[in-house]
Amino acid sequence: MAIPFYQHDLGQAELDSVAEVLRGAILTTGDTVARFEAKFAELLGRRHALAVTSCTGALHMALLALDIGPGGEVITTPMTFVATATAIMSAGAKPVFVDVEATTGNLDVNRVEAAITERTKAIMPVHLYGLMCDMRRLRAIADRHGLAIIEDAAHCIEGRRDGVGPGELAEAAAFSFYATKNLTCGEGGAVVTDDRTLFERMKLLRLHGVTKTAIDRYKEGYSHWDMVAMGWKYNMSNIEAALLLPQFDRIAANLAKRHHLAACYERLLPATGAEILTSLPDCVHARHVMPVLVPDRDRVINRLNKAGVGAVVNYRAIHLLTYFVENFGHRVGDFPNAERIGDRILSLPFFPNLSEAAIDEVVGVLGTILSDLGHIGAVDGRSVA
Ligand SMILES: Cc1ncc(COP(=O)(O)O)c(C=O)c1O
Repeated sequence: MAIPFYQHDLGQAELDSVAEVLRGAILTTGDTVARFEAKFAELLGRRHALAVTSCTGALHMALLALDIGPGGEVITTPMTFVATATAIMSAGAKPVFVDVEATTGNLDVNRVEAAITERTKAIMPVHLYGLMCDMRRLRAIADRHGLAIIEDAAHCIEGRRDGVGPGELAEAAAFSFYATKNLTCGEGGAVVTDDRTLFERMKLLRLHGVTKTAIDRYKEGYSHWDMVAMGWKYNMSNIEAALLLPQFDRIAANLAKRHHLAACYERLLPATGAEILTSLPDCVHARHVMPVLVPDRDRVINRLNKAGVGAVVNYRAIHLLTYFVENFGHRVGDFPNAERIGDRILSLPFFPNLSEAAIDEVVGVLGTILSDLGHIGAVDGRSVA
């Protein structure tokens, strides 16, 4: 692609950091992971952080640690990556979708209470594209009904809304360090919590439910360990932690760059006829991707790609993917706002070192495509000045 969808900014600092781990004895979970966890907990302002192999694993572990499983329901959004729902199903629980706000794509808090049944155990909001859901209202609902909240904050390390950040009003919040995320080690994740018991439980579940780890054996010498719970294999290695650690120094600067680039896009895009999702006052938008809504999305994305512009779909509404149609009987029309967004959304090139010239070019190409397809100046019949 002439203008890629995403380009990481890992460089010499990360090479040096990984080299240091490779020169040492411990490649698996050890002191480098512990250092990453301490810094990540501090960044989020939470008491505990656990580094794991993915956000999916983090969500799964948090559900298991909260005893949410077969027979339980978890309320969540269909405007997300499938991992939100697969984590719920991996725990044996049922994802119960609630429609999203038409303007932001986030879970519509006004619809949550109507979806609560005697089987509901938790709410799993997704801070879509980095804009936090209304956590104050969600917490109030959860408290009224005795529910847990596990935030899918895969897009939202830096986000804040109404003075709160991810994990602050929830039992736990999960983050992704997947290849295109704001912090990345290729594949990785973390979960934060203020609850010590929950933290200890997740730590046990992160590694097979066993009472000692390789680093314990390395430091203390061999002694027998026990398996005391059914656990998984979700521990992050020192190599991934080493890749992540130097990136803390760039988080604020990279967020500022992404805010600037988003503002450039938002200034130029209206003339093309593309629609922009709403941000909100009193929030810090983590700006994970640059989503726009366009008519004829599949043809537009195809032409963008042919013109050398990297663009992807984050996401089609997941309740209409085959698995959810076949297993939960979902149909077109179940969640109209999610479907409207999911049918029109595409993500344009977006990463901290993207140039303004590249944005000019992307928007120019998009405008030409929409014009060729006869859509310029109108989305869904709505006039654009
Ligand atoms: C909203 C959301 N939740 C969860 C995930 C899963 O993250 P991971 O790949 O780290 O498991 C993603 C990944 O793209 C995501 O976008």
